This record gives sequence, C-alpha cells and structure tokens, in this order.
Amino acid sequence: MANNNIAIYPGSFDPITNGHVDLVKRTLRVFDKIVIAIATNPEKDRCLFNVDERLQMINEVFADLAGRVQADSFQGLLVDYAERKHSQVIIRGLRAISDFEYEFQMAMMNHRLKPQLETLFMMTGESEFYTSSRLVKEVVSLGGDVSGLVPDNVLKKLKQKFKR
Ligand code: PNS
Repeated sequence: MANNNIAIYPGSFDPITNGHVDLVKRTLRVFDKIVIAIATNPEKDRCLFNVDERLQMINEVFADLAGRVQADSFQGLLVDYAERKHSQVIIRGLRAISDFEYEFQMAMMNHRLKPQLETLFMMTGESEFYTSSRLVKEVVSLGGDVSGLVPDNVLKKLKQKFKR
C-alpha cells in the first residue's frame, strides 16, 4: 500500500548543497519522512564523489534527523524505485525559470510511466537561488570560496578533492 507520508527526493547530490538541505527541511513540514535518493548509472556516472561518499555526506548532515530523513541510492527508473519505497510523491526543487523546462519534461514523463505518482515542486529558498552542485564544484576547483553555500562537512570534502 502506498504511504502518503513518505516523499522521495531524487537527484545526483554531487554534492549536497545548502539549497538541498533547505528543501529537505521544508519538505519535513509537510511529510513525515523523506528519502533522499541518489540516482546512479554506472555507465554514465561522471560524478566527482562516488555514491558512498555522497551517502556519507548526506547522513552526516541529517544525523539529528535520522529517523525522518533517509539517504539511499538506486539504479533504473525513478518511478520503479518510488513504487518499491511505497511512495506516491516525488519532490523536486525549482530555482530559476531555466529549471522549469527540464523539470516539466521529467514530471510529465514520470506521470506517463506511473500516473499515480505525483511530482511536487518546492521553490528553493532565496539565498540558495543561484546555488547548484555544478557551480559549487567549478568555483572550488578554481580556488573560489563556497562557504555558506554547502554544509561544513561538504566544504571540507570539496577542499580535499581539489587539494585547496
Ligand atoms: O539532480 P539531477 O541530476 O537533476 O537529478 C536528475 C534525476 C536523478 C532526478 C533523474 O535523472 C532521474 O530521475 N534519474 C533516474 C532514471 C529515470 O527515471 N529517468 C527518467 C526520468 S523522466
């Protein structure tokens, strides 16, 4: 049976940013539990952090909410994963208008694949409006400071990766 109180928050999370963290905390005002689900594709993955590193960073960030926030990874279709988790709700964050087309396409495709699954969009908090995992990695790799945009444990790991 589907559980309406569990939301799935899928993504790459390479790495998790404060924008993601804000969204998880706001989602917990509406849902009892949220599963942060890292989508993996061994053939296509070109991520900076491997899945275990990403899971570990997420678990550290939400250590005090461990009963309500679960980090997990999956392969294959998101709609099948959501079904395995008995969830009917996918959460995605929306930042700028540029996100909309991609998000709209995914939501429509997922709806076509599993009409009973709903995608809910949350607006990203204003201070995280311009933050993305991609930009954060680029800035750190070029010696810029991203403190305040990612959790402290993530900042440390980023600096280690780029030897900053
Ligand atoms: O953080 P991202 O990279 O924008 O997340 C994209 C993600 C992981 C949500 C999307 O690529 C996905 O759902 N992948 C799982 C495979 C799948 O179901 N693909 C069809 C999507 S319509």
